[in-house]
Amino acid sequence: MDNRPIGVFDSGLGGLTAVRELLHIMPNENVVYFGDTGRVPYGTRSRETILKYAAQDIAFLRSKNVKMVIAACGTVSSVASSLGESLPVPFTGVVRPTALAAYLATRNGRIGVIGTTATIRSGSYRSAICAINDNVQVFEQDCPLFVPLVENHYFDPADPLPCLVAERYLTPLKEQGVDTLILGCTHYPLLRKTIQQIMGPDVVLIDSGQETASFAMELLREQNALCDRTESGRCSFFVSDSTEGFSKAASMFLERDVADDVNYIDIVAFAESHANQTESES
Ligand code: DGL
Repeated sequence: MDNRPIGVFDSGLGGLTAVRELLHIMPNENVVYFGDTGRVPYGTRSRETILKYAAQDIAFLRSKNVKMVIAACGTVSSVASSLGESLPVPFTGVVRPTALAAYLATRNGRIGVIGTTATIRSGSYRSAICAINDNVQVFEQDCPLFVPLVENHYFDPADPLPCLVAERYLTPLKEQGVDTLILGCTHYPLLRKTIQQIMGPDVVLIDSGQETASFAMELLREQNALCDRTESGRCSFFVSDSTEGFSKAASMFLERDVADDVNYIDIVAFAESHANQTESES
């Protein structure tokens, strides 16, 4: 048993898709969330930058004494998941649990993957699926405009703007006859209705945030590290830019008012002082 919080991070709003599921399946756990809203998007950046940001995000969560780190970010999970290997607490990214869920869902062996440019460039989902069964055919598409749409709150399925963008990205995958589509960036489930409308009702959408939350629960259970709290857990949110826009979108998406639990953190200043402290300790 471990009553410390679960740490979750993403470049912005996307990781809330994992938080929503965590709150649903483990309502007594405390959660600390970091959304790097001051530096979003990650998915168009270089590998070096993504590695640097991810290391700082993890260090920040570790400073909150978390018992587990979830990289609720397809981009970090694809490019920088090795960072988790050296941690003294359990770590998971989104790629493996999501690839497995997609493999179990496909009926015709044709799986589509959408993600950020960095994620698709890494081929991470393709490798994870092929490691399970290399007879499955994988079709990939990066969708770089989806994250800015979500971060600017354009996720209303009645809005023609996200529909137009989604149609452009998804038509080639639809033409390939995929029956399962991995939403390989955790921001994308916020566009779920739009994506489903375009792909059609028979295509199964796999939500990377949701799958990862279930996987995290199993990991904690295996390690006997679930909490024994009987009252509802608390969720604290930290963002590296204005709290206002995040609070509004998070409250809407999580269907609870989180405004009082959202705090600003200067992640660059934190990273600098953390680096100085680590240096003076060694
Ligand atoms: N939500 C993230 C992902 O899953 C990050 C997107 C971005 O910042 O570009 O890839």
